[in-house]
Amino acid sequence: MKGRPFLSRLERFASVDSTQRIVREWLDAGTREVCVAVADEQTAGRGRQGRGWLAPCGAALLVSAGFRPAGLPVRHAWRLAATASLAMVDAVEMVAGLPEGALFLKWPNDLVADGPDGRLLKVAGVLGETVAMGGAVGHAIIGLGVNADWPASDFPPALAAGMTSLHELAGGRHVDRDALLDTWLGLLEARIEALRDGKFDAAGWESRQVTTGRQVMMDLADEVLVGMASGVDPESGSLLVTEDETARPIDSGEVLRCRVV
Ligand code: BTN
Repeated sequence: MKGRPFLSRLERFASVDSTQRIVREWLDAGTREVCVAVADEQTAGRGRQGRGWLAPCGAALLVSAGFRPAGLPVRHAWRLAATASLAMVDAVEMVAGLPEGALFLKWPNDLVADGPDGRLLKVAGVLGETVAMGGAVGHAIIGLGVNADWPASDFPPALAAGMTSLHELAGGRHVDRDALLDTWLGLLEARIEALRDGKFDAAGWESRQVTTGRQVMMDLADEVLVGMASGVDPESGSLLVTEDETARPIDSGEVLRCRVV
């Protein structure tokens, strides 16, 4: 693509049901990687674990990127979403003018900031969807919803206590979603090229984890697990939770909700 050869296609939409659906259809129709759909508004935005994803028109960066990561083993498919999240953490700090280290990753891929009372506030969510082909990842769609130019006065009352936006973190400044997209794509390109060469930024991923060394409560399908998160495993992508002195690796697929307590 002109100006950014890393991209095969980049389209902006005023309103769509979900950018995930758009990119999935492009990939199904044979579009090369990396194809990117961005929307001002989604009428049926999708979150993890079958949840929805809400944002008023123009308030969030709503973006999905489609990959055909030939050679990425299925056991490492999670690294695509982690890589996209790491690139977004850096992009957000740059564009919103936040100090380095102002944002964290909350396993598996939420972007969070410290709230005034020590509570973690969600700034962005990441949804990774993959289709396996043989032992490799056939295609993958990574979607990010970043609360960008969204004043707290407009937060939905039911979510307000647990969320924030770049607008708020930047002291009420306007946050340019196009600049954020552009910065993210530049950082993503370098990280994806490294991933293609088999280099995943395990150190960066581990050091951004907010759960490490903290007590977590995990809602699993048929139990609630409370324990100390001792770290993350850069091989499997699991969260390591120590309960009764035994470290247990938790796969993101098993988790309905993870809270830091
Ligand atoms: C989460 O549950 O935290 C993940 C939210 C992911 C939302 C983004 S917004 C752009 C893309 N399109 C969607 O329908 N969902 C993702």
